[in-house]
Amino acid sequence: MSEFKTIIEPFRIHSVEPLHMTTFDERTAALAEASFNLFDLRAKDVLIDLLTDSGTGAMSRDQWAAIQRGDESYAGSPSWFAFRDAVQNLFPFRHVIPTHQGRAAEKILFGVTGGKGKVIPNNTHFDTTRANIEYSGAEAVDLVIEEGRDPSSMHPFKGNMDIGALEALLEERADDVPLVMITITNNSGGGQPVSLQNMRDVRAVCQRYGKPLFIDACRFAENAWFIREREEGQGGREVVDIVRDIAATADGMTMSAKKDPLGNIGGWLALNDDELAAECRNLLILTEGFPTYGGLAGRDLEAIAQGLTEAIDHDYLRYRIRSTAYLGDALEEVGVPVMKPCGGHAVYLDARALLPHVPPLEYPGQALAVALYETGGVRGCEIGTVMFGQSPDGTEKPAAMDLVRLAIPRRTYTQSHMDYVIEVCAKVAARAADIGGMRIVEQSAALRHFTARFEKL
Ligand code: F0G
Repeated sequence: MSEFKTIIEPFRIHSVEPLHMTTFDERTAALAEASFNLFDLRAKDVLIDLLTDSGTGAMSRDQWAAIQRGDESYAGSPSWFAFRDAVQNLFPFRHVIPTHQGRAAEKILFGVTGGKGKVIPNNTHFDTTRANIEYSGAEAVDLVIEEGRDPSSMHPFKGNMDIGALEALLEERADDVPLVMITITNNSGGGQPVSLQNMRDVRAVCQRYGKPLFIDACRFAENAWFIREREEGQGGREVVDIVRDIAATADGMTMSAKKDPLGNIGGWLALNDDELAAECRNLLILTEGFPTYGGLAGRDLEAIAQGLTEAIDHDYLRYRIRSTAYLGDALEEVGVPVMKPCGGHAVYLDARALLPHVPPLEYPGQALAVALYETGGVRGCEIGTVMFGQSPDGTEKPAAMDLVRLAIPRRTYTQSHMDYVIEVCAKVAARAADIGGMRIVEQSAALRHFTARFEKL
């Protein structure tokens, strides 16, 4: 531990990317052209891009060097073995199945285990997980604890699964449940961590009903750091050991290597069950590729293998979690309502609290995200009624919360970038009363937030 209170970026900059400044009028025009859908903007017109922390991180010198080592052999490449060993070092599941990203692992897993009449519980399903489950015909159920739905609750592990609710579901419908999932950190619930104890309790329930537990482990390292900081008896432990303890609670995992593993692309499915693994590999070959590369180039496998060693570095994680909290704390100080405590990869603005005059079905999260871009070129992402309000039967209802996520790419922006974001948010908050709602003029049947077109009301 340092004797100084400033926690600095534990790296220096080796290669830079220019940012493109825009005027208010240019941003207004860009928004109109994008029908107020921020996914439809050209990234060059975005100054600070906090749309996602997925695949947007800066790779290290050693990752770029590893890319040079990439071996593109179709089968049995040394890069595959480097990747497999790096994954199993942290998550010692018997079978590792590489995919091009997380949702491909979900598609394969639920292609085999899902289907009509099935139900899959999770603390909170991420949108692609929910969509893949529902696409298979199954039902996706969220069972996060009560505190996880309250933006102001200071519970240290707001991502925890409601054990009673899980037991009740299994008691009633055990035959319909092929597996139980838990997402660490709980992205859709505010990037909140799950405690090791909660994972162990979930495992105990799963064992009682003979159900496998799968972790959606995208942000496993951030979750492990929170465990180290907040959970009794875990302080001072090595993160690598906490990660292995997490893995030991589960029978398998889905993964996006675009998050904590510090890749720009990639993912995997890992599991112990031989029979299920064989079925999944068959689907893999159909849609992703041969089992020793899946959907990835050899060079990507190398970059991820190296990234996995950097993701669990204590100096990195201390900086990572602190820099997110820096943004969250500052926003709170200037009067912008944020979800508390701060998540690991993102700060979530509480749009419903900031814009109480905009009803959920007029999408306060979308209205706020649009205002942030218009005001200062900052791109965030609505996580609310636009993303979750659409039911498979075509009806619409308010999501549990209307949030705007400011996701922080890993190792990419500096503190002065964040100071600018804080200023933009404060300016938007100061004129909150003048921000009106939005209406959807066109949408797709599922995952509408990616392509919907909006109008200001
Ligand atoms: N699970 C979680 C918890 C995620 O956050 C994501 C992606 C996925 C699965 C799917 O992984 O993108 O590699 O296919 N989240 C990104 C985000 C897109 O912005 O939060 P993927």
